[in-house]
Amino acid sequence: MKVLVTGGCGFIGSHMVRQLLADGWQVTNLDNLTYASNPANLASAMDDPGYRFVHGDICDAPLVKELVAGQDLVLNFAAETHVDRSLLGPAAFVRANVEGVVCLLEAIRDDGHAELIQMSTDEVFGSVPDPEESAEDRPFRPSSPYSASKAAAELQVAAYRTTYGLPVTVLRGCNVYGPNQHLEKFIPLFAARSMRREPLPLYGDGLQQREWIHVSDLVHAISMVIRAGSETQRGAIHIGSGERRTNIEIAQRICDLNERPHELITHVKDRAGHDRRYALDSSRLRSLGWAPEVPFEHGLARTVVWYVANSSRDDPAFASYLREQYEVRLAGAANAAK
Ligand code: DAU
Repeated sequence: MKVLVTGGCGFIGSHMVRQLLADGWQVTNLDNLTYASNPANLASAMDDPGYRFVHGDICDAPLVKELVAGQDLVLNFAAETHVDRSLLGPAAFVRANVEGVVCLLEAIRDDGHAELIQMSTDEVFGSVPDPEESAEDRPFRPSSPYSASKAAAELQVAAYRTTYGLPVTVLRGCNVYGPNQHLEKFIPLFAARSMRREPLPLYGDGLQQREWIHVSDLVHAISMVIRAGSETQRGAIHIGSGERRTNIEIAQRICDLNERPHELITHVKDRAGHDRRYALDSSRLRSLGWAPEVPFEHGLARTVVWYVANSSRDDPAFASYLREQYEVRLAGAANAAK
């Protein structure tokens, strides 16, 4: 069986490519190698005869058409994913996350054979009041340019299903953590900065709640959906762990794991439009027999150790992003403390 994985050099994509190769798939990985991609994530796959890498963009219609032809499955992980960057520049998110998906859908329509699995997010629902959980049919209320772009992509996917009868499945994940995630994200950033005794910029009061799944559990869930095949596909499925924590709890735990004082945690100006809480109802997936295997406390401890050993990335573009995102915030917090 043949699969086209898009965004396979990114965090989730690279873990998924390794799993697909282990399961015996012929994998073509289309990735345009943006700042968030890291080909080293797939160094172990390079010599696998079942693996092919193509450097290119999901918005390149002729290329995408050529690559989709003959595939059994297309798994779309190619996306701009960082909410804070979507606040700084939304256009890149519309291009990759909406236009890119339409380009894939057109190629699949033209090919007439491949199925699509589109990776989406719990953020399409916006903030979910406690103790509610979002079931698959909850209406969308995205808050950020990022989540609006993912919701728009989902609407296109649904339209192609309804209008052209395309075999498409949407998977909505909660917050994913584990090795190889970009350092811009909360857990890697706080793990790396606490190790270096740098202030940890916690947005607002830090009482926002997220649901966290280890990347290995996410990959197993996606594999299960693929194995379950078209009977269970053709709709949306939620992949949530039920492990819900406030940001401040996690920040404190990371300090403890790195043996650093909680005083490193610095409350800074909140993210604009910051959603308070996400919570997925994942009973549909659990009815297929899936359950997460990595308890959050264990997964977090392992992940922090990994970032302590693997976070020395000398990247001028990232240093410049960090200045743009945090310099004024951290200076504001220091002034407020005087
Ligand atoms: O919920 C799924 C989503 O999780 C995915 O769809 C997104 O692609 C992914 O980026 C992630 O979005 P979040 O905004 O939840 O992740 P992030 O790691 O940016 O932030 C997690 C929480 O931590 C969020 O409430 C904001 C907070 N935070 C984050 C950063 C980077 C801070 O307080 N300070 C920070 O410096």
